[in-house]
Formats: sequence, C-alpha cells, structure tokens
Amino acid sequence: MVDYSVNGSVAVLMVNNPPVNALGHAVRVGLKTGIERGAKDSRVRSIVIIGKGQTFPAGADIREFGKPSKEPWLTAVGNLIETCSKPVVAAIHGTCLGGGLEIALFSHYRIAVSSARVGFPEVTLGLLPGAGGTQRLSRLTGLPVAMEMISSGRHVPAKKAKEYGIIDEIVSGDLLKTALKFAQEVQSRPFKDRCLRYKVVPNADRVEEYASAALTQVKKKYKGFEAPVTCVQAVRSSAELSYEEGMKRERDLFLQLGQSGQSKAQQYAFFAERAVTKWQMPGGSYKTAKPLPVRSTAVIGGGTMGSGIAVCLLSAGLPVYLLEQNEKFLQSGVKLIENIMAGSVKLGKVSMETAKRAATLLKPTLSYDDIKDVDLVIEAVFENLDIKKEVFSKLDKICKPSAILCTNTSTIDIDRISSATSRPEKVVGTHFFAPAYHMKLLENIYGTKTSPEAVATVMKLGKTINKVPVLVKSCHGFLANRMNAPFGSEAIFLVEEGASPQEVDQVNEDFGMPMGPFKVRDLSGIDISWRINREVAKVLGTSITKETRFLGGNRYCGLNDDFYDKGRYGRKTGKGWYLYEKVGGKNAVADPEAEEIINSYRQRRGIVKRKITPQEIFERQFYSAINEGFRILEEGICNMPEEIDISWIYGFSYPKYRGGPMFYASQIGLQRVYDRICHYHETCPYSIHWVPNRLLKKLAENNVPFTQWANHVSKSKM
Ligand code: 3HC
Repeated sequence: MVDYSVNGSVAVLMVNNPPVNALGHAVRVGLKTGIERGAKDSRVRSIVIIGKGQTFPAGADIREFGKPSKEPWLTAVGNLIETCSKPVVAAIHGTCLGGGLEIALFSHYRIAVSSARVGFPEVTLGLLPGAGGTQRLSRLTGLPVAMEMISSGRHVPAKKAKEYGIIDEIVSGDLLKTALKFAQEVQSRPFKDRCLRYKVVPNADRVEEYASAALTQVKKKYKGFEAPVTCVQAVRSSAELSYEEGMKRERDLFLQLGQSGQSKAQQYAFFAERAVTKWQMPGGSYKTAKPLPVRSTAVIGGGTMGSGIAVCLLSAGLPVYLLEQNEKFLQSGVKLIENIMAGSVKLGKVSMETAKRAATLLKPTLSYDDIKDVDLVIEAVFENLDIKKEVFSKLDKICKPSAILCTNTSTIDIDRISSATSRPEKVVGTHFFAPAYHMKLLENIYGTKTSPEAVATVMKLGKTINKVPVLVKSCHGFLANRMNAPFGSEAIFLVEEGASPQEVDQVNEDFGMPMGPFKVRDLSGIDISWRINREVAKVLGTSITKETRFLGGNRYCGLNDDFYDKGRYGRKTGKGWYLYEKVGGKNAVADPEAEEIINSYRQRRGIVKRKITPQEIFERQFYSAINEGFRILEEGICNMPEEIDISWIYGFSYPKYRGGPMFYASQIGLQRVYDRICHYHETCPYSIHWVPNRLLKKLAENNVPFTQWANHVSKSKM
C-alpha cells in the first residue's frame, strides 16, 4: 500500500491504494513504517510522500467509518511526519483532500502540479477534518479562509492554494523527479519553523468577528446542516486554545458529528451517488454498453426548459442548434439563454470565458435541415403526445441514422413517443428538472426498444454536462414525478380538509425542503398544473369540471382550478397560493383573498374544516411518496433504493442530511412506516396511493436491513 524506495539521499513513500489512494488502515500503517524507516535510514536526508496513479491521497477511507477504528490513527501518523528528524515534502497531484491534505499539512513542505486541487470535503459527509485540519489550516491561511474552506468543502485549485499559502511551489514536468530535486535542496535548511503546530494563528484577536461573519454565512447557505456550523466552531478553537487543546476539541467535535444521523445520511448519499452510475437494463449495463460520441447537439424548443437545457450543453462546450417554429419564439429562446448565462456569470457560477464560448457555440435556426448531422437531439416542446410525435417523426426523417433522439418528457411513456420513428432503439428520455441549468438530476428513461448504447450515451452526457444521471424504466411519470404525485396531491388534500398552505409549507421547510409544495406551485405556475391536469384527463378519456371529485379512480381536488379561474397563476401574476410584492416577486405572504377562495371551495363542497397536526401533514405527504417508491421498486422501474434517494436529492432538493425518502424510511423503521400507511389507507379512502405496497410489507415483516432491499427487489420481480 505504501512503497518505500530510496533515490540518492531521498526516501520516497509512494502511496498505492487505487483508485483514490484513500488513507485506509494499511496505508496508515505503510506511512508510519515508511517515516520510521526513513528517519533511521542513514542514506536518507529527506523524505517525499507522493501518490501513485491519478492522485495524492483523497482522504480517509470513508468505508472504514462506523467500524471499530484501528491504530495508528491518522493524527498519530501526522505527528510522526511533523516531528521527523528529516524534512518531509508532500508532492501533490490530482485531488489532495481531507485526510490527504492533513498529511500534507503535517509535512514540512508542499509542492503541487498546477492541475492539482486541495480541500477539506469532510463537511459534505457531515463531518469536519478530524486529523488536525481545523487547527493547522488556520495557522497557514488565517481564520477567514480556513473557516470558509472547511465549512464549504470547496476544492481549491493549486494556484489559489499557493496564494493562500497552502502550497509552497507549483511545479511542472515529472512530479517525482521535481520532488526529488526539491527534497534534496531543502536538506540543508532548518525546518522546525515549518512545523505548523509552532505557528500562531494570524489575527487571533479578531476571532469573534471572523467567527460571527462565518456563522452568519453558513447558517444562510447550508440551512439545516449541522456540520458547517461545527466546522466554524472547530476552526475558531484554533485561535482560542493551545495547539494540544485545539486538537482535542477538534477530535471531540469530529466524534460528535460522526455519531449524528446527518453524517450517516450524508455518507450514505456519497456512496448512493456513485452506486447510481452502475446502471443496468435488460440487455446491457454500464459494463457492456459503449456510449456514442456526442460532439454536436440540437435542442427542439426554446421555451423555459429548452433554453435551460441548451445552457447546460453550451456550458459544457457542446455546440447547440436551437430550433424553433418561428422567428419570434426563436429570438425569445436566444434571449432566455443569454439572460441565464449573464445571471450565472454574475453569480460566479460560470466564468466569462465559458459564457463567451457559449455564445459562439449557439446556432439558432428555424430549419430541421440544419440539424441533420448532429449526434444528439433533445426535444423540449410542450408536454403533449401529438406534438411530440410530430417532432419525432420529422427527426426520424432528417437526422443521420446514428443520431440519438432524446425527449425531455416529464411523464409520457417513451414507447408512445418512439413509435413515431423507425428507430425506437435510438429514442431515450432525458428528463431535466426545472430550472434545467441549476437542478442536478438528469432522469434518463429507457423504453422497451431503447438500446443500451443509447442509454450509455445519455448516461455519459449527464456526466459531461455536470448532472447526476439516474436511469429508470419508462412508465407514466417515471420515478421522480410518479413519487411526487401523491406527495403533491396530499398537500392539496390537506388544505382541502382544513390545513392552510402556510402550515403545509412550514412542515416541509422544517423538515429541510427548501420550499414548501405551495411555494413550489406558485413558482412553477398554477396554470401549468391546471394544463397538466387537463392533459391527464384527456389521456384518461375524460374531462375536468367544477364537479370533478375523482380522476382515473383517484381522489381529485379542484382547488388549483379555482385559483386558476381567478387568474392567480403564482409568482408570474404576483399572486397564487400566496401574495407577492410584485409580479415576478419572491416574497410570499399569506393572503386573505387566497384564504377566501379556499373557504368558499370548502363550503361549496360541504367540507367542515378540521385541525390537522404537523405530524399528519408530514406523514401524509412523505409516507404516501415512500409507498409509491416501494411500488416503483417492486415494478422494476429502478433497481435500487439509492436511485430513488438520489432522484429526490438532486431533482427536488430533498435535504441530503436525511439521505433521501427511502433511506429516511429505513431510519424510522419500515414497520412503523407500513403501519401508518395502513392507517391512512383506512382514514383517507379513494386514493390509490394509500394501498399498502406488498414489497414494503414483506421487507417490514422480515425486518430486512436497508442494504439488502435491492436483493429483495429482484426476487420480487421474478
Ligand atoms: N474513501 C473510500 N472510497 C472512496 C473515497 C474515500 N475517501 N473517495 C472515493 N472513493 C471511491 C468511490 O466510492 C468510488 O468507488 P466505486 O468505483 O466503487 O464506486 C471510487 O473511489 C472513485 O470515486 P469517484 O467515482 O468519486 O471518482 P472521481 O474521479 O469522480 O472523484 C474524488 C474523485 C474527487 C476524490 C471523489 O471520489 C471524492 O470526492 N472523494 C471523497 C473525498 C473525501 O470526501 N475525502 C475526505 C474523506 S473524510 C476524511 O478524510 C476524514 C479525515 O479528516 C480524518
């Protein structure tokens, strides 16, 4: 795991633990032994620590967390490095993260190639740097930078890290050769003053001011997360306590966070995000299917979704034809793209160079002929089967045979769309979430005829455009929207029965959702849900009237329609479920007029308002979604609960510190969830989504641990 060799007067400790050289037990033992050996070796006058393969150690081995820890601890290894009688040089390439950066900070010198990145991402796992990072970084960079870096988990490029004082030198050429030369040069220099433990924290007397500014920032930016606040507290202690006391304080806070449910959930989410990349479908998987190259693209439709999708492609450096049906719509699409780009530059999310390059890559057009040679097309027209079929029929005639034809449908079965083409194997769903340029989920959907090659192409595309792609089998609503349907319906039923939109939103926001469902409806537009409901009715061969109480055998609430009839479409009209300060405003306040609409709706239907507890609000929304999640698993729409959880985290901003709805259900206990679902099945009749799912029942009865749910899924499908 750590190879020891001597080159002239320099010992080289080469960490060899692919893929990321994580500092697992064997690596810690190897480093300890290597340093001790180098210290004793009479040929050796300095030591280099370097990573083999693609990176310097990218942190502790997260897979060891939660298991009994084995000596030597990382801090003990670090202490050996820092107190070594010979200077130690960390030679950095790739990602020097977490425990890896801590090892580098224990070393006396740090050199890095310009492409390297350093950082403390522990906070993203619900933790803080637990081997001195919080006590040592501030001694190098000062408190404000240390507080910001550690509480954000940001990866810092080598050049910036040098400005901060973290890196001593940026080097070019062969890293090992340069490191050997550097290590020789420093042999004659005294290096005790390079040990960070002896340094004082700059401007320690201003710690109160820095900490309060940092806390204000993190509480706003990472609402609900425990770790960022604790990170600031730990860094703060570096200025208030002696080095030894600070190290102890850091350890205590690290252990405290490690015990928290948030940390467990965030670590789960880390691995879940990687698990979903290992997709499978009938006839192929990530192992067997090869993606086709995507060098050019087209987006059909320049509306809100189409332009947002175009921004994603353009930002990744892909040329995009934006195709619209007339000049007016085309210009509006171009304007939307320009505005999104300008806004992203202003917010620092996109560099000026990227925005300028994007402008040259965008090719607005009104002609299908222009897109005949592109590698991939994404259709983003109105959610209407007939219109989509018309577009796909044209694409089929125009596009080259190898082109992948994607649809951004949010609900419609892929087979129904691909039936308009002679190449259904090339048709695949790429469902983006609004706003497309911001939300990270890309729900990729395969139909019965979609080829694994087409799927491999869109899974790769997802990564290229910096999304988290999740693969699901086609069905009405797919994964995310199918689960969101009972979640959203229950919100409105709760208001129908007596809760206020504010009460429902509050419960959701207290749980950690960034916005309650009614604020979301106001944002996405009440007119949009009005239209979607009509489309659903059309598919079901019926229509919606003031008297409609059931749709497709399910309970239906017409409150949304009453708001629509009053022209209250949400933020875009300055009023919806809430009142806003202006048209397009963001500040939602309760509105007596909205209350009046709700009251008269209840009166008309003879509903006697009742008091609804926050617990009932929570359970009815989240448990109905969980029940649907198990149905989705049982039907094989996805293969594992991780796919559901990642979809919620990146599609609906579900709080990562709760892991996702399925993981959360496992934490509550499946038997309890199942019992409550049975309860609501009895008390809330007429909603199919409350029929208790069989797979859930089976897993609950057998007390199956979360990690084995996926095995039961495949068994239940057979
Ligand atoms: N421990 C264990 N496994 C890890 C790991 C880690 N620290 N980091 C990555 N891996 C695994 C991944 O799970 C994945 O495994 P898989 O192939 O079986 O799915 C594999 O390594 C490759 O990872 P990625 O797919 O993420 O590879 P990328 O090249 O896209 O990204 C990376 C590389 C930027 C290093 C990214 O993996 C990453 O961010 N890793 C986590 C880094 C981190 O959080 N470090 C801090 C750990 S906590 C710590 O150090 C505590 C200390 O302060 C005491």
